[in-house]
Amino acid sequence: MNPGNYRLVVLISGFGSNLQAILDACADGRLPAKVVLVVSNRKDAFGLVRAQRAGIPTLYFPLKPYRERGLDRTAYDRDLAERILPYRPDLIVLAGWMHILSSAFLERFPGRVINLHPALPGMFPGMRAIQRAFEAYRRGEIAYSGCMVHIVTPAVDEGPVLTHRVVPIYPEDTLETFEARMHEAEHQVILEGIRAALQMLSRSEQA
Ligand code: GRF
Repeated sequence: MNPGNYRLVVLISGFGSNLQAILDACADGRLPAKVVLVVSNRKDAFGLVRAQRAGIPTLYFPLKPYRERGLDRTAYDRDLAERILPYRPDLIVLAGWMHILSSAFLERFPGRVINLHPALPGMFPGMRAIQRAFEAYRRGEIAYSGCMVHIVTPAVDEGPVLTHRVVPIYPEDTLETFEARMHEAEHQVILEGIRAALQMLSRSEQA
């Protein structure tokens, strides 16, 4: 561990607004950490541009070449871990990462992989969680939604929860207005989740 200057590796797949929240918090001292690598499985992820602008190393690591060689996700996950290990991460943050990581990856970083998910614990695991919550609200099945940061286990979006926050939905909301409110909450919850994970790791190191 690097007390006070923890090393984060962030995995993204898209726009990277949560990555940006992390970069900003590291830059202005709200997070005692620095991002040492940003990984994307998609070449067009704008989050890679954000990392490059911040002078942070990036790694584009697509699954396609593995599939073309008839290799399975375990080979991809194992090699991805091998590429990340040299950066000596204290914590790996999945921020909009759209690939389910198997134990071939997770076992290399036990208890050190966390994920941001735009739904409350036990609600709407998997893809399109924001849209599915909005549709459930419209059907009168839920009164609100939320987002959480949890420790990643091989079960999708189900690991121990580090922090969560309720995000209200209003009758006048459109999917767009609800989604904007969700992302605004995520940009704070991702930081709370990282802080909680680092505190947990720090305590376990001292134990
Ligand atoms: C976020 O809603 C995240 O929870 C979900 O995908 C979105 C990523 O947003 N997995 P960004 O790429 O961080 O802007």
